[in-house]
Formats: sequence, structure tokens, C-alpha cells
Amino acid sequence: MHLVSVMMLFHCFSGKNMTIPARVLITSALPYINGVKHLGNLIGSMLPADVYARFSRSVGRETLFICATDEHGTPAELAALEAGQSVRDYCTHWHVIQKEHGERFGLSWDWFGRSSSPQNRELTQYFARELWKNGYLEVRKTRQVYSVAEKRFLPDRYVIGTCPHCGYDRARGDQCENCTRVLDPADLINPRSAVSGSPEIEIRESAHLFLKQSEFAERIRTWIDSHKGDWPNLVTSIAEKWLDEGLQDRGITRDLEWGVPVPDDIANGELKGKVFYVWFDAPIEYIAATKEWADATGKGDLWRDWWTERGGNDPRAVRYVEFMAKDNVPFHTVGFPCTLFGVNETLPEGEKWKVVDRLKGFNWLTYYGGKFSTSSKRGVFMDTALDLLPADYWRYYLLANAPESADSSFTWEHFAGTVNKDLADVLGNFVNRVTKFCVSRFDGKVPDAIYGEEEQALIAELDGRITTYRGFLEAMEFRKALGELRAIWVVGNEYLTRAAPWTHFKTDPARAAVGVRMGLHLVHLFGHLAAPIIPSYAKVIHAAILPAPDLIPWPDETMAGFLDQLKPGHVIHPPEVLFAKITDEQVEEWKTRFGGE
Ligand code: MF3
Ligand code: ZN
Repeated sequence: MHLVSVMMLFHCFSGKNMTIPARVLITSALPYINGVKHLGNLIGSMLPADVYARFSRSVGRETLFICATDEHGTPAELAALEAGQSVRDYCTHWHVIQKEHGERFGLSWDWFGRSSSPQNRELTQYFARELWKNGYLEVRKTRQVYSVAEKRFLPDRYVIGTCPHCGYDRARGDQCENCTRVLDPADLINPRSAVSGSPEIEIRESAHLFLKQSEFAERIRTWIDSHKGDWPNLVTSIAEKWLDEGLQDRGITRDLEWGVPVPDDIANGELKGKVFYVWFDAPIEYIAATKEWADATGKGDLWRDWWTERGGNDPRAVRYVEFMAKDNVPFHTVGFPCTLFGVNETLPEGEKWKVVDRLKGFNWLTYYGGKFSTSSKRGVFMDTALDLLPADYWRYYLLANAPESADSSFTWEHFAGTVNKDLADVLGNFVNRVTKFCVSRFDGKVPDAIYGEEEQALIAELDGRITTYRGFLEAMEFRKALGELRAIWVVGNEYLTRAAPWTHFKTDPARAAVGVRMGLHLVHLFGHLAAPIIPSYAKVIHAAILPAPDLIPWPDETMAGFLDQLKPGHVIHPPEVLFAKITDEQVEEWKTRFGGE
């Protein structure tokens, strides 16, 4: 029945025209530490990464799904200050909360790490040393804003003043929000600290390490070009825009206390007391979190295996997939690859660091067409969402409306409509209807019956649709995948309506038995197919028919076998009403509470 897929024995799986290694490494953009994440953060990287991880496991691939909190940088320092906590305590506090929220949403991380870990410190320093040795780092003097009152350098956007172009009096040092002109903090009239309001601002000179990204322009372009077609257009076009504008060398250190310290053996200690820029160490945490996982689970050096570039035929070869929202794309198509390319240059084959194989990017999820905003608490956040409804309601809705080809908008009306139609009317009603009928008319036992033409046609249609659904998951086309999954549920409903066992029961019980037998098998099938999307409910649905294994495998068998496997007389266990409908009153209440329009 649950033959753990025979496919496990093979190293490779053939997709349409590619061979996918049997090992898959998955990372989602690391959520920034400051506070509770909103549904836009969830659908923009973490949730689709989870679905792909669950799918990969279900088809028997060795899967490692890694995430972590991104903890360094000025925003964390300032938030800790405001909370009256040390930045380390502040980060620990929010790391624990974010981990708990992720787990409650069913995010099946193999490891949820922290960019402030000793492993990341060690690896970040290693990458910087190698880049230094290979000649890709350079010390440059920069002019920066220093707040005398706060005794700290301020990033440009934390300096505010009057815009010299339009006169707006709260323009930020990097850009005027009002006229959108790009600014230099030195341009501002009456500059002051955005943190304390203090006008005691000076421009001071400070030395920093620069990564010579400009030297990688050709290599990056060739690499991006090679992924046109297999990466979303959104991703390659953002990368190309950056390349077309000319790759700029980038400062990778900051005058802060919180971060990975620049080691003394780089630049003869000239940068003593400075730390790496958060965007330098954050992607390295993908690797470091894998080491955290290995250290915590006694895997020793195995973490390196996941991060080493190998030939396609090597059984250890890994397919590395990254998930992120569009604002993160430049750092993952340019910044991080420059680090890896620069270090790889002097490493022998078989020891080079792996670069991403598939990069899935997302547009924005909006809240009634506007921004979800952490700072102004606009929209729905992970904790409050779970207070209202179980995680799977949100998972289904968000994935069905994933902002893939364009932004998509969350509204309470749309959310309620989707849940009520797809989950309650189509899926839930099917499961409840057929299992209850089996109890009332067939003693709760799977009837014996021989399938006829109608069933053979259904089986053939499902074979095709399941292949399509699998193809969409493989291609990480989540909207389309969910559309196909829903279509499969609809096909089941239509079959049952035609078979109408409740009508035939009195006159032709044998005919009714055919419909019920097939209906119960469809419930079982739905438990398998929905597992990567709505894992908790999939288990409940599966358990109505057969005990659910921890990992519900992909139904690899042909449908002729899968849909006729239950022994006559096998006892089923109907679940309670699966999905409660969302009422108009609830929609109104939530709109008032969270703000609609
Ligand atoms: N913390 C960043 C954000 O929230 C994402 C960092 S992804 C990483 O946008 F790879 F750099 F860690
Ligand atoms: Zn302006």
C-alpha cells in the first residue's frame, strides 16, 4: 500500500527534459529578526519552500530544508534599544517566537538557525579571508554620518532633514520619500538623527572593506544567461537590470558593534572593531545553519556534502533551490554569488561551494492593494492568523493566490470565498459525504465492487491530472499546482454526483457499492495529493481510510492500482466536519479589527 517509492533506489529522476538529482537542498530567505512576520513574508518565501520540501520528500528525494533568523544590522540594534534589551537577548527572544510561529504553520524545517551563531561567525570570517587572499577585497575610505549624541555612525536612512529639491522636511538621507530623488545625507538641510532627533551630526571618514563586484560582471551575466528559461522571468530580469546598470563594488563592513567582527588578519587590522554588513553574513548563514544542523545532530562533516559542487552523475550531487521575494533577488543573483565565485576561484574541483541551481522569486502579496507593514502593523500577522483559523486554511489560500506572475491582493472577502468554496464545499463536503454514507449504508466498511466504464474513464483522467499536478509542483508553479489539485477534487465530486450511490442504494445496491468503493479510494487519494499543501488536514483525510504515515508518499502507482487497493470489509473512520465555513459576520468583524480597504 504505502510502498515507499521504488524510485528511492535510483539516484536520478527524470522530469520533462532534465535530470533532477536525488538530493535536494532548499533554503527560504531568512526572515529578519525584528518581530512577528506577516502573511506576505510567509507566502513570499517560507511557505512555498515548505511545500517544495514536503513534495521532494514525498517523492523519495533526500531533502534538507534550511532556514534561520537574520539577526545582524542596525534595525535589530535599534529595536533592542527601544525594547530596553541587549541586542543578543532581543534576538533570542524573537528567534524563539519566530520558530514557534513557523512550526505552528507546519513549516517542516530540518533546521531553523540563527545568523548570530558561532558557526556563521566562523564561516563569514573564512569567506572574507579567502576573498581577501584572492584579491577581491579592498580598503576604501568613506564619508559617513556620525551622531555625536548617540556616539554611533548612522546608516543613511536614519538621518532625516529637509529635501534640497522639494522642501519636504522629513526626507531620509538615502532618498526623499516625497519627490523620490536619491539623496546623499550631506545634501539634507537641517540634518538630524531619525533615532533621537539630535541635530549633532557630523560627517566623518571611516575605512571599509569593499567587495569588487565589478570584476564579476561577465561571470555573473554568463551564469544568469544560462538560467534564462529555467528561472522565472521575474528573477532573470531583475538580475539583468542590475547588470545593465553596471555592477558596483560594494561596502561589506559597517561601524557597528552587533555583527560578525572583521578579523585582524584582514588588511593588517585596519578595520579593527568593525563588523561585516548584514547582507554579507546573512546568505552565508544558509551554509552556517547547515553546519548548525550537523553539529546539533551529530552529522559531523556531512554539512559540507550539501554545499559542495559536484558533477551531475555523482550520486552525492545536490540540487540547490532558493525561495525569496523580489526585493531579495539582487543579493542572491549578484551579491552572494560574487562571494562564492571569488572564493571558488582558488579551490580545486570537488571542493568548490555550491551556487543556487533554481531560484524561485515572488512578487508582493498586498493587503487590499496596499503594503503589509510591520512598522505600522497593517495586515495579518502569523500569530493573529493562527488565533483565527488553523494553519491549513491560510496555507491553502496563500498558495492558491501566490504572487507569482504579478502581485496579488489579500482581502477578507476573497479569503472567505476561497476557503468556503474550495475547502468546505469541494474537498470537505466530498470527504464527509462519502464517509458518512459508507457508515450509514455499508456499516462503515469498504464494499466489494467491480469498476465499470465510468470508473475506468475517471482513472484515466486522474492519471493525466496527477502527472500535470506533479509537473507544476516540480516547476514550483504553485498557483497552477493548486488549480490542478482543486480540479482533481472537482472531478471526484462530479463523479460521485453521477454515480449517485444514495439514489441507487434502494434499487441497485451493487451499483451503489461501486460509487462508494471508488469514493473511499478518492478520499484516500486526496489525503496523499494534498499532503504537501495542507499537511494537517491531509493526515486527517488519509486517516479516515487508513492510518496515516508521518511522511505521506506521492502516489506513484498508476491510478488503476491505487484506486482499487482497499480490501473489502476494511473499516473506515469518518472525520467530523472538516472545514467550517467562514461567515459574513466573521468577515465583517475581521475587517473592522484588522482594517479593510
Ligand atoms: N532578512 C532579509 C529580508 O527579510 C532576507 C535575507 S536572505 C539572506 O528581506 F539570505 F540573506 F539571508
Ligand atoms: Zn524631495
